[in-house]
Amino acid sequence: MRTPLIAGNWKMNGSRSQTKALLHGITSGLQEDTGVEILVLPVFVYLEEARHLLSQTSIQLGAQDLYPGGSGAYTGEVSGHMLKDVGCGYVLVGHSERRTLFHEGLPLVAAKFKAAVEAGLKPILCVGETKQQRENGATETVIREQIESVIEVAGIGAFHDAVIAYEPVWAIGTGLTATPEQAQAVHLTIREQIAQNHVDMAKRIRILYGGSMKADNAAALLAQSDIDGGLIGGAALDANSFLAICEAAVQKVI
Ligand code: PGA
Repeated sequence: MRTPLIAGNWKMNGSRSQTKALLHGITSGLQEDTGVEILVLPVFVYLEEARHLLSQTSIQLGAQDLYPGGSGAYTGEVSGHMLKDVGCGYVLVGHSERRTLFHEGLPLVAAKFKAAVEAGLKPILCVGETKQQRENGATETVIREQIESVIEVAGIGAFHDAVIAYEPVWAIGTGLTATPEQAQAVHLTIREQIAQNHVDMAKRIRILYGGSMKADNAAALLAQSDIDGGLIGGAALDANSFLAICEAAVQKVI
């Protein structure tokens, strides 16, 4: 049984005081020992504060991006080793907002994934198709390429502790959600692709769904056999709605 993972991607939201308040709301409402792993991904500059506030809890800390270099002349960037140094265990790689707004192509995403693993972080590789790609019947091809390009650079062994997040671009922040059946079909395809490279890896890897997952649709999505958790944006900014999604994941374990 794969441990469900519920991850809150806070994107570029909040202030120092709002970060504290949100963490307080989550930590005070969360049950311990539920068999579900909970992760928050705050803004870089609040990671240290978050680490401090989460130190007595089982909630994991992660970052939303990294740069695939060691120390050096990369103005404005943050390395995997630095993230590890401030207590991160996870890092997002290839989120669609990075791919689109910041023009991150397949080679850069693959380099980031590899650098994350080398720094001892667990990468969460985000993949997904646009509305047009879905309408053109290209969903599988697009996702296959997004994953294959990482396997080519990092090797399938690098997926040992990694997570994949299927996030249909048309569902991110739009209020549109893939139906549980649509999501399950893509998750199964992703797992089959991993199995073609490494059968055991496919059994162990967690594949999250992201894209307008909310308290009222989480249970149906999480009930699908290949959906191992959620990557939550908007609904993770409210402690009660995030906690409700965590609770829906608990039902998957019971
Ligand atoms: P959303 O974002 O839940 O607001 O759609 C998900 C994500 O981008 O990770």
